[in-house]
Amino acid sequence: MLAIASDHAGFDLKSEIIEHLKEINVPFEDLGTCDCTTSVDYPDFGLKVAEAVASGTHDRGIIICGTGIGISIAANKVPGIRAALCTDTYMARMSREHNDANVLALGARVLGVGLAVDIVDTWLNASFVGGRHQRRVDKFADIETKYSKTHT
Ligand code: RB5
Repeated sequence: MLAIASDHAGFDLKSEIIEHLKEINVPFEDLGTCDCTTSVDYPDFGLKVAEAVASGTHDRGIIICGTGIGISIAANKVPGIRAALCTDTYMARMSREHNDANVLALGARVLGVGLAVDIVDTWLNASFVGGRHQRRVDKFADIETKYSKTHT
């Protein structure tokens, strides 16, 4: 199950991507926001998807804000999240193959709908290749451990 969320700036692109996910039969849960006119804070929606993926209730996520930058920064603060901001299909494929990205971040004010949908398809269809890349991905967790504080 895929979790998807956006802020107000990403709402219209989120709606387009949701229509596409329905067409290709990818199960998803929409975690908001619910319209493009009410201004909301992108960290709140990056956190929703990040917590859904990190907790295991959802196996991957898509997050969208105006640039994709703020919402990806927020999601990447959650341990276990590897959110990749992708602006082309090569980045989308590599983020899966080399970085084992579990969250895809998109910028609604940066991408056209057609390219965004291609990025989503590429990302959903690519797989982590492991090997030497596993060692590097493991080092993400080492960094999280080094800087972790007790969470209550
Ligand atoms: C909202 O205006 C905008 O700042 C937000 O969508 C995002 O681009 C932040 O990184």
